[in-house]
Amino acid sequence: MTMRTVYVNGEYLPENEAKISIFDRGFLMADGVYEVTSVLDGKLIDFDGHAKRLERSLNELDMPHPDVLPDLLEVHRELVRLNGIEEGMIYLQITRGAPGDRDFVFPDPETTKPTVVLFTQNKPGLADSPAAKKGIKVISIEDQRWARRDIKTVQLLFPSMGKMMAKAAGVDDAWMVEDGAVTEGTSNNAYIIKNNTIITRHLGNEILHGITRAAVLRFAREAQMQVEERSFTIAEAQDADEAFITSASTFVMPVVEVDGVAVGNGTPGPVAARLREIYLDESRKVAI
Ligand code: PDD
Repeated sequence: MTMRTVYVNGEYLPENEAKISIFDRGFLMADGVYEVTSVLDGKLIDFDGHAKRLERSLNELDMPHPDVLPDLLEVHRELVRLNGIEEGMIYLQITRGAPGDRDFVFPDPETTKPTVVLFTQNKPGLADSPAAKKGIKVISIEDQRWARRDIKTVQLLFPSMGKMMAKAAGVDDAWMVEDGAVTEGTSNNAYIIKNNTIITRHLGNEILHGITRAAVLRFAREAQMQVEERSFTIAEAQDADEAFITSASTFVMPVVEVDGVAVGNGTPGPVAARLREIYLDESRKVAI
């Protein structure tokens, strides 16, 4: 892979020259938040949604706002330009900074400034993904994450273990279940479709409030589709007509198997395909 130009604390640097302190609280405590914004046609998809959620994550954790916060659109665009990204993602992470020692107590924001890192991930063919035509298979696993999943923190160990459980089971991803109901996928929101109604878990602290979720539900309602925001079970998913996931990196991705049981006829369904098309078309139109 060619050397990327990344952003770290106000500087654009070759990736092998970018450095973070060993005392950074992101490293020691997972005391950091992040966003992933996709790029299509060299433009940012749903940028405003990601920027708003980032600010909310910072506020929920009492994390000081970095000085660069109002200029993040410019930084994203500059990285897209410097790295020649047509299709791919921008990863952004903000941590509570590096106080110079390890301490559970938050550092004084007057002396410890947040760490801000952004880098690009070049993914040609992201929108025209073969997986979207085939659909993905998922297993269910118990949701063992902390209770504030609405905050987009960098503590991704359990989701990462979930992906490994999926891999060991020979499938693509895992849906997490709590008290008998699906919360979400390891890095995406989960949906089923039954009798033309789109069903996805209601918002709360139990799931991340997906930016793609908000856009897809808005487009679905505009297209006069029925939407129900409520929890559902794995049995309901296995009995559904269709299933799918959404996220910034997968957009709308059909799910064709849950715990070894085919969903519908076991191939991507028409509603998910239509939602993917609407989402991609409409978001490209307003990309910035
Ligand atoms: N993940 N739920 C979880 C647990 C997620 O990690 C994500 C995103 C989503 C979807 O949110 P959005 O539509 O705003 O991307 C839902 C990103 C893509 C990641 O961790 O790479």
